Amino acid sequence: MSAAAIIRDRAGAEPVALAVVLGSGLGGLAERVEEAVRIPYAELPGFPAAGVSGHAGALVVGRLSGARVALLAGRAHYYETGDAAAMRGAIETLAALEVGALLLTNAAGSTRPAMPPGALMAISDHIAWSGRNPLIGDASDARFCDMTDAYDPSLRARLKALDPELHEGVYAWFSGPSFETPAEIRAVAMLGADAVGMSTAPETILARRCGLRVAGVSVITNFAAGMSATALTHAQTKAEADRASARFERLVAAFAEGFA
Ligand code: HPA
Repeated sequence: MSAAAIIRDRAGAEPVALAVVLGSGLGGLAERVEEAVRIPYAELPGFPAAGVSGHAGALVVGRLSGARVALLAGRAHYYETGDAAAMRGAIETLAALEVGALLLTNAAGSTRPAMPPGALMAISDHIAWSGRNPLIGDASDARFCDMTDAYDPSLRARLKALDPELHEGVYAWFSGPSFETPAEIRAVAMLGADAVGMSTAPETILARRCGLRVAGVSVITNFAAGMSATALTHAQTKAEADRASARFERLVAAFAEGFA
């Protein structure tokens, strides 16, 4: 049975209006889902075996603010195995389920002094700085997908209307797992990156390849390398994501309401 068929079988055939990929330390939102049906990734063919701390590895289908949602608590990253298409099976499953929109979330570092830890940023565009593209090896003409407005402007406008303090900016995807060097941060900041992180961009490419509407939100957990005296650690990422989680959860819950 396909993952989409398993999900329909266990969680019901009612269409999913909004799917959300939860970033590092942001999994708490899954607890807010009502009538929740939780399916471990291990039981869904094509889904990743998520193993990074801060990432649980389960799909939670249910209701958030009255909308039918599917939350992906846990994602696979390029840095885990070197596979930029690690989320392909999961995203193709969302496309097979014909979800109305996909919200990708992440923890990210800020390159802008005016966007400090604790800030939320709607992603307006990305720079795939890792140099890898998840569609390499895809043999169909659909691989040549247009990335103009990959982050849907109307979904972004909805996000901004919900939180007047929401920043907006460009996300630069680095492979990780080491953090960036201060020189790399200076370089991408000069090129237009407002935030940096190790996920999301390949998922956006895969999702656009499948025709899904995409929105993205970064939770700023730190100033990027070289911008502050604080050393960068994954523990700090998780702790800061946790501190920002109330605002983040409020935003996503309000965003979901628009899909009810
Ligand atoms: N760089 C890359 N990924 C991140 C960062 C960062 O500064 N913070 C959280 N995820």
